Amino acid sequence: MTTTSQFIWTSEDSQTFLDYGRYFMPERERQIETICGLIPPLPSGAEIIELCCGEGLLAQALLERFPDATVRGMDGSSEMLATADKRLAGFGERFQPRHFDLASSDWRSAIRDAHAVVSSLAIHHLDGPAKQALFADVYRILAPGGVFVIADVIAPAGKQAESVAADAWDWAVHQRSLELDGNLDGFELFQREQWNLYRYFDPDDIDKPSPLFAQLQWLAAAGFVDVDVYWMQACHAIFRGVKNET
Ligand SMILES: C[S@@+](CC[C@H](N)C(=O)[O-])C[C@H]1O[C@@H](n2cnc3c(N)ncnc32)[C@H](O)[C@@H]1O
Repeated sequence: MTTTSQFIWTSEDSQTFLDYGRYFMPERERQIETICGLIPPLPSGAEIIELCCGEGLLAQALLERFPDATVRGMDGSSEMLATADKRLAGFGERFQPRHFDLASSDWRSAIRDAHAVVSSLAIHHLDGPAKQALFADVYRILAPGGVFVIADVIAPAGKQAESVAADAWDWAVHQRSLELDGNLDGFELFQREQWNLYRYFDPDDIDKPSPLFAQLQWLAAAGFVDVDVYWMQACHAIFRGVKNET
């Protein structure tokens, strides 16, 4: 199955996320640490693909942790790629920024034998069928033993769970705002922007989170083994599948 889409994340979205992403993502540093920890030791020259690398924070952690690997950082936003490129200039050729559309299939046939594919807070921009197609294509892109690590917002299982998720995300941003700055400016911006999609969900918006259980099943259906969840807070989850060695 091939999918194509218009890139609908705007420059304004990028700027808001660059300015306030550190408040909006629960336990951001711990998420990055968890994603890196889910990648097995890599051979020299290994390639890690990051889908929707944004400003390059995860790519930086990967480049530091795996000094013999390269990271191909892909994103659809020129602003994000420019910010990542600047941040990671010290890594030289080991960081390779690429412009792409996550939903399109063209880039998928151009990659093979990647050792890890990672993505943080982006795959929820695809709907369910497009996620399933992506999971199958990532399986093909990976070398045997490779891993696919996803950090993302997920859809709560029903209305009551949605309300719990909304409260939990508000609380997490409230706490981060206080921890980072000692004031609630970050939290107030989160509220003003109506960023909490569990409270202000709009089916026509760019966010299309899918239930976690379904996504784990889609990974297994694509061929991944050892599919499991490693961290979760306020309906943000980190989960992984492994491509068999044989
Ligand atoms: C919420 S930000 C997350 C950025 C980064 N992964 C992080 O965790 O900090 C979403 C990112 O996905 C990118 N993005 C959204 N939809 C996309 C698409 N269809 N194709 C390529 N990039 C996309 C945006 O440009 C943005 O950098």
